[in-house]
Amino acid sequence: MSRKPLLIRKARPFRYSSAKMKHDNPKNKVLWAGRLGEKPDGEAFAFQSSINVDRRLVFQDIEGSRAHVAMLGARGILSAGTAAALEAELVNIAGEIRAGKLVIDEGAEDIHSFIEGILTERLGDAGRSVHAGRSRNDQVALDVRLYLKRRVPEIEGRIGEAIGTLLDVAERHTESVMPGYTHLQRAQCVTLGFHLCAWAAALGRDRLRFADALIRLDECPLGAGALAGSSLPLDRERTAEALGFSGPTLNAMDSVADRDFALELAADCAITQTHLSRFCEDIAIWAAEEFRFIDLAEAWSTGSSIMPQKKNPDFAELIRGKAGRAAGNMVTLFTVVKGLPYAYNKDLQEDKEALFDSLDTVDACLRMFRGMIASARFDTERMAAASTGGFLEATDAAEYLVRKGLPFRKAHEAAALLVRDAIAAGKDSIASLSLAELQSRSPLFEEDLYAVLSPLACASARRLTGGPAPEEVRRQIAALRKFTR
Ligand code: ARG
Repeated sequence: MSRKPLLIRKARPFRYSSAKMKHDNPKNKVLWAGRLGEKPDGEAFAFQSSINVDRRLVFQDIEGSRAHVAMLGARGILSAGTAAALEAELVNIAGEIRAGKLVIDEGAEDIHSFIEGILTERLGDAGRSVHAGRSRNDQVALDVRLYLKRRVPEIEGRIGEAIGTLLDVAERHTESVMPGYTHLQRAQCVTLGFHLCAWAAALGRDRLRFADALIRLDECPLGAGALAGSSLPLDRERTAEALGFSGPTLNAMDSVADRDFALELAADCAITQTHLSRFCEDIAIWAAEEFRFIDLAEAWSTGSSIMPQKKNPDFAELIRGKAGRAAGNMVTLFTVVKGLPYAYNKDLQEDKEALFDSLDTVDACLRMFRGMIASARFDTERMAAASTGGFLEATDAAEYLVRKGLPFRKAHEAAALLVRDAIAAGKDSIASLSLAELQSRSPLFEEDLYAVLSPLACASARRLTGGPAPEEVRRQIAALRKFTR
């Protein structure tokens, strides 16, 4: 099987998509050409370049450069004319890239060099002045933060949409009884609405985690330079404000060494993905013929190439499987960062691929999960049937005795003996025993027990905060709605 490597590609020759080729074209040069007489060529250059990954930061890179040149102009580090020319050209470049007129050159070292190269090609010395007081170290830290300030709220929105869909379904099923499980053994009767609210509650925490990460990354690293700021009279407050940050970062060395935002968000993605994975495990179980609690839409299932009868829950399985990828990316990031001496090291270039992959994965899985749930049919009759005949009411029978004053341990024993009696008599529920049989285990049992033991009565009786009673689940749904806005 031939597989295209993701990052290490054969270097392609530079493509001049925006200007006539000149022999002294500045795009032939890397940004560090002055110090080193030779540059790595071919495969070696491609190995260390990051354009294939950081090209997605192009608009953030341009936005950061616009704020930077405006500040350089305002500070008199650049003439007003030069600053204005650079700004205008950066706007042009963004427009051309959007329109597909300017193609990002995959032969460039990274997105920062690419943009500076175009500016220099078009504006000469003005282009050569854009990097005053800046390093790619603070530039890339800025670009990623700007990207995350846009991307993270999108993911929060996706989580909100998934929660909204779960709650819409839950609302229709506050009285649809189903077994609740522990150890994958039927445990106590709950409702489908209650079960879906359990999922929604987990996603609600996920949404808060993403929002929380956003608060901490909302500081602007621009002006940190390579690691120690600049002797030029930059105005970090101004660029931070122009770029919509709460302020500049506190310490320049920390600004270029720090990848906490990547670690945190990768962890947030891994947790969200782990949640989705568990929900999908439930769905895959429910879709099995032996359960048939859920009937996934045909458009959200796949068939088998050999077994004609199959309708497989592939979407659920794949979402479940991608939890491995999200956890892997998190481990990748921690491992990359853990041994690095301060401040910037090229190892940090490895941060983006893992982080972007986690964000893309969670984003896609949330959308797929939502579509799968919105189109699924839940078989409430099968769920109700599974809620009777498995002694799910045993705890409720014991609590009946507790209400009549019996110590719980004795009540537990009486109910357990009833279960044994029923099994010995070939019956499958406590309710199918006669009153005389019930009273042989405890004289406290009376006729009113039977009304307490129906599945819906059992679920409805647990009306504590957090319980499965229909009115309590309706309260939970209303409370969880806040995560959908
Ligand atoms: N491509 C680099 C990264 O993603 C940009 C910073 C490069 N800085 C450097 N000193 N080589 O981290």
